[in-house]
Order: sequence, then C-alpha cells, then structure tokens
Amino acid sequence: FNVPEPVNEPVKSYAPGSPERKELQEMLKSLRNLQVDVPMFIGSEEVRTGNKKPMSPPHDHQHILGHFHEGDESHVNQAINAALGAKEAWESMEWEQRAAIFLKAADLLAGPYRAKINAATMLGQSKNAMQAEIDAACEFIDFLRFNVKYMTEIYGQQPPVSGNGVWNRVEQRPLEGFVFALTPFNFTAIAGNLPASAAMMGNTVVWKPAYTQIYSANVLMEVFKEAGVPDGVINLIYVDGPTAGDIIFNHPDFAGIHFTGSTGVFQHIWKTIGENIYKYKSYPRIVGETGGKDFVVAHKSANPKAVAVGLSRGAFEFQGQKCSAASRAYIPSNIWGDVKKYLLEDLASMKMGPTEDFTNFINAVIDEKAFDKISKYIDNAKTAEGVEVIAGGNHDKSKGYFIEPTVLVVEDPMYTTMQEEIFGPVLTIYVYNSEHFEEALELVDQTSPYALTGAVFSTDRYAIELATQKLRNAAGNFYINDKPTGAVVGQQPFGGARASGTNDKAGSMINLLRWVSPRTIKETF
Ligand code: SER
Repeated sequence: FNVPEPVNEPVKSYAPGSPERKELQEMLKSLRNLQVDVPMFIGSEEVRTGNKKPMSPPHDHQHILGHFHEGDESHVNQAINAALGAKEAWESMEWEQRAAIFLKAADLLAGPYRAKINAATMLGQSKNAMQAEIDAACEFIDFLRFNVKYMTEIYGQQPPVSGNGVWNRVEQRPLEGFVFALTPFNFTAIAGNLPASAAMMGNTVVWKPAYTQIYSANVLMEVFKEAGVPDGVINLIYVDGPTAGDIIFNHPDFAGIHFTGSTGVFQHIWKTIGENIYKYKSYPRIVGETGGKDFVVAHKSANPKAVAVGLSRGAFEFQGQKCSAASRAYIPSNIWGDVKKYLLEDLASMKMGPTEDFTNFINAVIDEKAFDKISKYIDNAKTAEGVEVIAGGNHDKSKGYFIEPTVLVVEDPMYTTMQEEIFGPVLTIYVYNSEHFEEALELVDQTSPYALTGAVFSTDRYAIELATQKLRNAAGNFYINDKPTGAVVGQQPFGGARASGTNDKAGSMINLLRWVSPRTIKETF
C-alpha cells in the first residue's frame, strides 16, 4: 500500500473574478435560503426528533438557515450502542481500507465539496472566505492526508527483535470501547479531525459538536458518508453537554475523549472521569486542547511593521476566536510609536460586516453569550483606571454580533485582560522599558496559566535565543518573527501544555498513537 506523500492543500485566492469566488458566491446564495432540516446520524439512521432548533448566521441572527433536530438521553445511548455495534467490523477491516476512505474524504473536500464546506462555515460560523478556505477546506484536507501518512508509519513500524526460536510482534489495537469526540465551533477542521483521527485508527465514535457548528458539521457528515465511512463508525448527535456527559462518562465502555474547547469544561470532564474511574474497563484516554492567552513579545531590535502586522493578524483574524489568537503583547518603549502607527493603519483597513460581502475582513462573533462576555470586558476597560482604548471599543448586536477590533493599552501588566482568556477581538498591550527585555520575558511567563502559542519579534539573535530559552514552557507553539496563529498541518504540529491542554499535537503521530492500545505478542517455536 503506497500512500501518496502528502503536500499541503494549496490555498485558493478567491480573488475578484476567479472561478472559485464565483462558485462560492453561488453556493452562499443557494445555502442561505435552503432551509435545511438537519438530522442526527446514529448508526444507519437519520434521526429526526421533531425538537427543532433554528440555525442562524451570527452576522444576521434574524435570518433562519434551517433547523437541527435536538436529541435527549435516549439518543446518547443509541449512539453509544451504534458505535459499539459497528466496532467489530470496523476494527477488523484492513487499515488500508480505512485509510482509503479518509483519503477519499480529503479528495471530496478538495473538489466537489469545497464550496459547500466553505459556504457552510461562512454562514454558520461567520468566517470570511479566506478564513473558511484555510480552515474548512485546506486544514481539514491536510489533517486527513497527513494523518493517513502517520497512520502508515504507525502500522508499518519496525517489529521488535526476534530470533532463536522466538517471533515477537506488536499489534496496534484500537481502544476497547467507544471514543467520545467533543468538538468546538471555531474550526470546522478541528470538528472534523477529532472524530476522524480516532476513527482512522479503528475506533468507533460518538461525536457531539458545539451547537453553533452544527450547520457545517452536517456537511462534514455528508462527506464522511459519501467517502464510505460505514454506518455506526461516526455517530453525530446534538444533545446538550451535561446530558451527554452524564451518560457517556458513566458508561463502562467509555474508552477515551478527544476534546477541543474551554479549560473549565475540560477540567470538569477530567474530574468526572477521575470520580468514575472504577466504572470503566480501561483507563480512558484523555486528549484535550483547551484555552489560551497567547502572547507577542517584541525586543527593542524588532522591526515595528512586522510586529504591527503580527499583532493585527494574530489578534483579529476570525474575530480573535482562535485558541491561538494573540491577546496580550509586550512592546518595548523605543519602537512603540511606530508599532502603534502601523497597527492603527492596518486596523483602519479592516472592514467589518457580513461574510457574504468578501471585502469584509471582520465578521460577527459566534453568539449572544460570547458577544455579551466580550463586550463586558471592553466596557469595563473603558472606565478602568490606567487603561486606554486606542482602537475599536464599539459593539452592536442589533443585526449581528459585531464587535470592533479593540486594542487596549494598560499601565498594569497584570490587568485582567492581560491574564484572562477573552476569546474575541480584544488585544491588550503593555509597553515596557526597552532596556528591560528579560523582565518582560518573566512577565510573559508568569502572567497567565495558559501555554498554547506565543511569538517573539527580534532581529537580534541573542534576544531570540534568550526568549526561546526563558519561554520554554510558556507555549507549545512558539513563533519567531511571525504571528502566533495559523499552524499548518505537517509543518507546525499544534498544541500546548499547562492549562492549554494535553499537548498531544493535532495532526501528528503523537495524536494518532493515543487512539491505539498496542498488544505485544511473543511466540515461541
Ligand atoms: N491551529 C490553529 C492555529 O494555529 C488554532 O487551532 O491558529
């Protein structure tokens, strides 16, 4: 079995007049008024409960895109049973056949489903065309193709030493039981990858997406089905978190969780699993990517324009709703004037509005709850002492959940917005005395409990070396002279430690190895 050497899926430009732009615009128009009726997918069934919930674009919350059918306890149990029922056939299938299914899914997304998955991500999650292309098309295609490559390496590993009448071998078994994939709204690629990577390794999965991502999850499921994922291998349910968790984390066959979401939810899940540990057949695998409070620190030698662009793109792409988003920055006083000038210039060029207008760079935040939470941070900052709002600050939810890209400059480096994850378009900057770089690095390391991504900007090799050493544990993805977002599968394996997750690096062999439980076999002749 010769897996094609993966290359990253090229990002299409969507330039005015390009064929891909035309196709995407047509798809957006047709999906907007389709009024889809989205079932759950459990085993071979499309389940419609009649308990219909509306789905709307965050940038146009009075417009209904369609409805999904919400489930209850019984559907969680059905999904678990379907996963357990499909297990034997799936895990005894040659791994090459499983690989072929996911390679086909990648090809479907690269070709016939590209416009649809991008349009669904734009409408349902309010991503602009380029952000949707990078996420829902390219990143997910890359996850699938690169994971198949890592899979071949795992199954093709050198066997252990044998001889003298003994044959030793290692069999990569899937986990015993079912895997629970609990997925976020902010990346369609992550929502697809969490169930797919566990399934690839022979596991069967119960998949519960965030309610705010169901619109594009439904398209992903369509792709999985068309690619040939057998019934029961990935079961997609829409049930509220506590209801699903109550059944899943009490089930003896619960074998692992593949999670991306908030630190608080992950900690609660970990605790629940600990409390229930005697109920399970095996110690469940716990793989999670959680919050971030990602930093940019500049040295006095840094190029101000590069810093400014790193900040504006790193902080405000997809409205800052990336766990990797730059949200706190430490800028030396000697370059602050220039950084500020370039930053404000770049922000002035960012138009805000609905995703259907491709000239808008900033769209809406995901829902009212997020809007209220982010707005509160901004409003508190407006009246706080020692905090200056140098850009943005306005928000309006009358038509969509729009919040201007907001930049705060603080006198106190421990001000709340330097420490807490906001998950929105808010960047906080602390200007430090340019001669005190080492102290600034100390602050970076100690201000927040998270350690997902971070960036240093400098043209001085000693300063880069110092930051790389001092911030060793402050980020799982560390960038030198670049923004801290936009990790590319196969190039920068992604994940962080401390309060940011288990650092099992999405899109890597490390991650896939969490979904197998090896058996060593010794045979004597
Ligand atoms: N992988 C994304 C990034 O690097 C975040 O999940 O921005």
